[in-house]
Amino acid sequence: MPVVFRPTLDPNKLAPFVDPLPIPPVAKPIGTRAVPGNRSREVPYYRITMRQIDVQLHRDLKPTPCWSYGSSVPGPTFETRSGEGLTVEWANELPSEHFLPIDHTLAGAESNLPQVRTVVHVHGAITPPESDGYPENWYPPGRSLVCHYPNEQEAAMLWYHDHAMGINRLNIYAGLAGTFFVRDATEDKLNLPKGKYELPLILFDRFLTPDGELYYPTSNARQRPWVPEVFGNAFLVNGKLLPYFDVEPRRYRFRVLNAANGRFYHLSLDNGMLFTQIGTDQGLLGAPSPAKRLTLAPGERADLVIDFAGHSGERIVVNNDVLPMMQFRVGKGKVEDNSAVPAVLRPIKGIPESAATKNRELTLDEVDDLTGQSYTMLLNNTHWAMPVTEKPALNSVEIWSFVNLTDDVHPIHLHTVRFQILDRRSFNLAQYLVHRKLVLTGDPMPPGPEERGWKDTVRATPGVVTRIIVRFEGYTGRYVWHCHILEHEDNEMMRPYEIVPRG
Ligand code: C2O
Ligand code: CU
Ligand code: CU
Repeated sequence: MPVVFRPTLDPNKLAPFVDPLPIPPVAKPIGTRAVPGNRSREVPYYRITMRQIDVQLHRDLKPTPCWSYGSSVPGPTFETRSGEGLTVEWANELPSEHFLPIDHTLAGAESNLPQVRTVVHVHGAITPPESDGYPENWYPPGRSLVCHYPNEQEAAMLWYHDHAMGINRLNIYAGLAGTFFVRDATEDKLNLPKGKYELPLILFDRFLTPDGELYYPTSNARQRPWVPEVFGNAFLVNGKLLPYFDVEPRRYRFRVLNAANGRFYHLSLDNGMLFTQIGTDQGLLGAPSPAKRLTLAPGERADLVIDFAGHSGERIVVNNDVLPMMQFRVGKGKVEDNSAVPAVLRPIKGIPESAATKNRELTLDEVDDLTGQSYTMLLNNTHWAMPVTEKPALNSVEIWSFVNLTDDVHPIHLHTVRFQILDRRSFNLAQYLVHRKLVLTGDPMPPGPEERGWKDTVRATPGVVTRIIVRFEGYTGRYVWHCHILEHEDNEMMRPYEIVPRG
């Protein structure tokens, strides 16, 4: 579908590496509250407001109006420990009009609804359904929602973002995202770099107007502005364009999140040096995995250790493919570094395939309309509003096989559960389209070393069946699974699923 571009700012014309990397503030509770269903247990209580603020994206740009959680984009970082619950009141104090182009033909974004609607989801958290940010659970400005997060799960970098039906891509593009760290004793024992030597790197891209306002592209169909993907030319790290970060010549731990609408990042360091991946979406890997290049799809996270020892005085650029994103400036001299990257991080026990009681074959579809002007993207050829078809029983194990019939890689995410990737295997597309018969053609490809941990988002490649194995732990109730390319998600590449009581 043709996409209309207004003139946008060329970030190559801006001076690179003039702004220090911002680090989002840590969220502070304002009190305590009793846990729902347990009056005697108090947990920290936070109140976070969503509002419109001006953000300085680069030294030489005018401030950019954004939507934020609290007073920064990305929003404040939550710090919590496994099993220590917390409660957040998410207050919507945004303006009543949206400043990005709503497509009212999308399911759940009809023109009779309030323009501005929000609901927060903590991605990767095991959360009771009423606090999980169900897309239809949105509320307008002037209202708030109190959500409880029990955090009964292992240490991981989670993240929170908007999830309002049909406008999620616009709300997140406007700035509604932040990170949420769960810590535990296993992680503490490892002596990884911590304190000021551990920080999040939150990646997203945008288009900006020459005036420094956010620009979201539209199609040339007046009534249907939706576009299938957005790949901005301005790369932001923690909300800053081309920042620099001063490091000491020692180890650092970087918690990297792809919070972009549609961009897949391919990161490397311009001096060709190795880094070590120690974790993925749902926490630590079994063992560290050295690499020179990292691929991250929207929604995915990577836990990296970079050792700057031996690089004193150097300037090292982090590239996305061949384009710069940020710069490390390594201090001179030698420093003491007592941190470590142990050879064993934590045991990752594989779920045996024999534990699965169900194997679901689920297609990823793209349906073009006759004009070629627009298309719908679906999961298993079912629309959002159709009856729930995936109803795993609580604590049961299932294998979900994503049969990708499209030309794109789709990062598929399931709420409230973690899973393991079994394998990827090519299949005969023509056979499938004509006879709905799955004829596997290639050998099963095991997940890469960086994917051999607990995941919550998986790249489903085209022409391939990607299999994951999931134990549906946590709570019964209604959740969603979807493609994390936000334009796809908003155009019905999202389905409800329900965890039902064991029968
Ligand atoms: Cu980041 Cu529904 O997810
Ligand atoms: Cu999620
Ligand atoms: Cu997709």
